[in-house]
Amino acid sequence: MKVVSVVGARPQFVKLAPIASAFARTDAEHVIVHTGQHYDPTLSDVFFSGLSIPSPDVHLAVGSGSHGHQTAAMLSALEDTFADVRPDWVLVYGDTNSTIAAALAAVKIHIPLAHLEAGLRSFNRLMPEEHNRVLTDHAADLLLAPTDTAMRHLGNEGLAARSVLVGDVMADICLQLRRDIMAGNTSAKSTDVGEPYLVATIHRAENTDDPARLAAIIASIAEVDMAVHLFAHPRLRDRAARHGIDLTSGSISLREPLPYRDMVAQILGSSGVITDSGGVQKESFLLERPCTTLRTETEWTETLEGGWNVLLPGLENLSAVATRTMSEPPGTSPFGDGHAADAAVTALATHTPSR
Ligand code: UD1
Repeated sequence: MKVVSVVGARPQFVKLAPIASAFARTDAEHVIVHTGQHYDPTLSDVFFSGLSIPSPDVHLAVGSGSHGHQTAAMLSALEDTFADVRPDWVLVYGDTNSTIAAALAAVKIHIPLAHLEAGLRSFNRLMPEEHNRVLTDHAADLLLAPTDTAMRHLGNEGLAARSVLVGDVMADICLQLRRDIMAGNTSAKSTDVGEPYLVATIHRAENTDDPARLAAIIASIAEVDMAVHLFAHPRLRDRAARHGIDLTSGSISLREPLPYRDMVAQILGSSGVITDSGGVQKESFLLERPCTTLRTETEWTETLEGGWNVLLPGLENLSAVATRTMSEPPGTSPFGDGHAADAAVTALATHTPSR
């Protein structure tokens, strides 16, 4: 079996890590294609080196652009790559522009398409990611779903026959790193010992691109009654500079984005998390830190159980909500048993169409 994995953005590198290890335990040929959607070393290279992912076999260096331009550039380059490699499967990850570009490129030239992290829905059609995931799911031949909720969404859309529940590969790696960090078997920089702090990340267009919205978010975070380590995506820094918003005010301690291992250590050392990222909401849940999400909805609805994640788009009482403490650990583990990547590779092998 020959499988091409297509990745391009930070969360996809994290998902690729356990998948690449799972392929390495088989005799399958695994080809890694990097679209170049993320190119800053802090968003790309450190993930490959820090998570021991083999270097990409093909790098398309597409870079940033508007949705249409970026997706079109990837689509065109990926078609040539797939025609050249002729894999048994193209495997796409999550919901970025790299995902939809690779999905379209594959199906148009009749290469079987598998979608990892299939079935997530925000039901918010203003999000570019929602279109990316819905269209990719409907194009794909094999849907690898992380949760029961995702399976239910796929069933509701008539896609049950092509869907397999494999678990969440981000849980595989997050729980493994937690074990390593707790056992001291890691080079992850230990977190600032002593003073309690929250971790914050903000990167979504709906929070960064409207100056009034971004100013309100930053002002509310600055007033939180605890130190807040703000790990700034380039989009946040860029928009804040453009709109003249100071990212270093009040409680905020402004920091560079972290390699994944260090981010897991930061969250583990924290009292809680403020974010608009899907992955970080789930990591907070898995690492048992209360999360406050500055969005109107979440794809990972399981994290809302028991109040471990709270949606707070209006920023009301952000300080009190974000510094809340939880008395009981989460009562559920909806993201699988930490072996999702092996299950995904097995599903690919089982469902490989004959040529
Ligand atoms: C993308 C994904 C989003 C994911 C996020 C993770 C889409 C539609 N969105 O959003 O789902 O949660 O990645 O980070 O695919 N930039 C840099 N350096 C880089 C990459 C980007 O400075 O290496 C800046 C550029 O100004 C660029 C902007 O960030 O225009 C946005 O980058 P882009 O890849 O379009 O989307 P993200 O916001 O990162």
